Amino acid sequence: MPYRVRPMCHEDLSQVTDIDQEAFPTMWPPANYRRELGTRLAHYIVAHEVVSDEGSPVTVTGRVRNIVGFAGFWMMANEAHITNIAVRKSHRRRGIGELLLISMIELALELGANLLTLEVRASNIAAQGLYRKYGLNQLHIRRGYYTDNRENALVLAVDDITSADFRQHLKQLKQAHARRWR
Ligand SMILES: CC(C)(COP(=O)(O)OP(=O)(O)OC[C@H]1O[C@@H](n2cnc3c(N)ncnc32)[C@H](O)[C@@H]1OP(=O)(O)O)[C@@H](O)C(=O)NCCC(=O)NCCS
Repeated sequence: MPYRVRPMCHEDLSQVTDIDQEAFPTMWPPANYRRELGTRLAHYIVAHEVVSDEGSPVTVTGRVRNIVGFAGFWMMANEAHITNIAVRKSHRRRGIGELLLISMIELALELGANLLTLEVRASNIAAQGLYRKYGLNQLHIRRGYYTDNRENALVLAVDDITSADFRQHLKQLKQAHARRWR
């Protein structure tokens, strides 16, 4: 695989902030990932390019690995609520968004979630395509939810990620995704 996922750490923050600002230029105030990292309920991951010295976030030459995307969710009781997912513009449509979403769902399952939820802008066709591919369905609409342009949010959810049907669907998507990078 040309990209891997690991937990976000402080060394990643400047690259993560760059990606966030590129992906969400109108968000004000911008997300504060340093604070998110200190939040017990929050779980953030990054996707990075694979280089030979695996393991640490910093390579042997002292360079922080090239981060190409990140994502996170909040775990509240049995609900994993996805707060964000973003991929560098230059690296989109290569399957990195899927890698991040698969990794978050697997982590949410490990943490005991069964409900998966998120909000997405009504105009965000790319993200909706990704979420719908993974079985998230629209629950309802939050009118005027986004403060920058009063855009509506679609609330999407999978009500049982532990179900046999969902796990089977996830397994098939994961296999297809792995074949893409073989
Ligand atoms: C949404 C986002 C994370 C997708 O990342 P990505 O790495 O480009 O996505 P992938 O290559 O893994 O694509 C996975 C699926 O998403 C959907 N998708 C991705 N980009 C799409 C686009 N431009 N138009 C329609 N569907 C798209 C497709 O269903 C695709 O599956 P396919 O390859 O079988 O067609 C990326 O577009 C992004 O960072 N956008 C800006 C940030 C953002 O809007 N985040 C969502 C906040 S709710």
